[in-house]
Amino acid sequence: MKGKLIVFEGIDGSGKTTQMQILGRRLERQGFPVVYTREPGGTRVGESIRGILLDPLYREMEPQTEALLYAAARAQHVAQLLQPALAAGKVVLCDRFLGSSLAYQGFGRGLSLEFIDHINNLATGGLKPDLVLIFDLSPCLCLKRIGAQVNELDRLEREEMAFHRRVREGYLTLARREPACCRVIDGRQTVEQVHETVWREVERFLREANAGNK
Ligand code: TYD
Repeated sequence: MKGKLIVFEGIDGSGKTTQMQILGRRLERQGFPVVYTREPGGTRVGESIRGILLDPLYREMEPQTEALLYAAARAQHVAQLLQPALAAGKVVLCDRFLGSSLAYQGFGRGLSLEFIDHINNLATGGLKPDLVLIFDLSPCLCLKRIGAQVNELDRLEREEMAFHRRVREGYLTLARREPACCRVIDGRQTVEQVHETVWREVERFLREANAGNK
């Protein structure tokens, strides 16, 4: 089987990171070669860019700057980690990818989706995820789950509720536009129940990929 890129998307606190870890362990138990990574980050350069992006100090950051920095971190990630791992036949589990830029910088900040697509095509060389799991939960519930004080929140988490609502709607719009690779997962259930839904989707996806020898 060729390498597979499975991406976890959703607003902060939607449970995607926990689900990624649980799925990864189950895949490993079944013998799949799993690689875990995240955006922004996944590489030394990317983690440094992440530091700038999430630091509440930079309140003045322009939306364009923000979008370009996410794309810059992504370019490094694709070249240094994702492409080699996929070429080596790994199942790569990635916490956020292009969908986050479309949802946060596009729907959230109001930048045009064409601009986001354009800079990200340059960054990724056209690499697309094989499967995108979108964890859907209301921003109110997400905030409760994060349960943090304002001074513990990063620059994006500090955005107003309306911003997070636009991001959530953005994800749902993206899912409707690309039904072939996106799956919306209801994040309101327990961790175990959500995992079972994730597992059903991933198992089916891997079975079909294997059957088609894709
Ligand atoms: P995340 O790693 O999910 O944060 P945490 O470690 O706090 O769970 O993501 C960091 C933030 O970056 C998150 O608020 C979403 C944002 N983001 C974008 O706005 N655009 C992007 O392209 C990416 C990858 C992330």
